[in-house]
Amino acid sequence: MTITAFIQWTPAYSVRNTVLDRQHQFVIEVINELYQARLHRRTALEFRAIFQKLSQYTRTHLAYEEKFLADNGYPEQEAHARLHQAMKIRIHAIEQQNETDDVDISQELFDFLKDWWLTHILEEDMRYAKYFENRSS
Ligand SMILES: [Fe+2]
Repeated sequence: MTITAFIQWTPAYSVRNTVLDRQHQFVIEVINELYQARLHRRTALEFRAIFQKLSQYTRTHLAYEEKFLADNGYPEQEAHARLHQAMKIRIHAIEQQNETDDVDISQELFDFLKDWWLTHILEEDMRYAKYFENRSS
């Protein structure tokens, strides 16, 4: 049986950095895991645990990427970090809400996660990928 992933990583998402690509793939993997939990009507407790994993890994990845950009002298590092900050606030708010209210398993939540990550990778992360590529050529 083929399981269609909610988000499928493709080489078009590559930022030409193995570590960052792997991190992006892992974020996508956890979003897919969350989506599977919704499809299979897993318990709120299980769903909350996966969301927490997503939230923690998002923070780890965004911090790593910000440091990578700063260490490599990316001129738009601060603007990029501000975009990350907005996402961290949003994820934190959802996490808080999941702890107090009913767990949010709405399609809106999934559309938001998918849109944010794919737009961010393809538009914003791709800007640094191109910048580093041009700088090294
Ligand atoms: Fe980023």
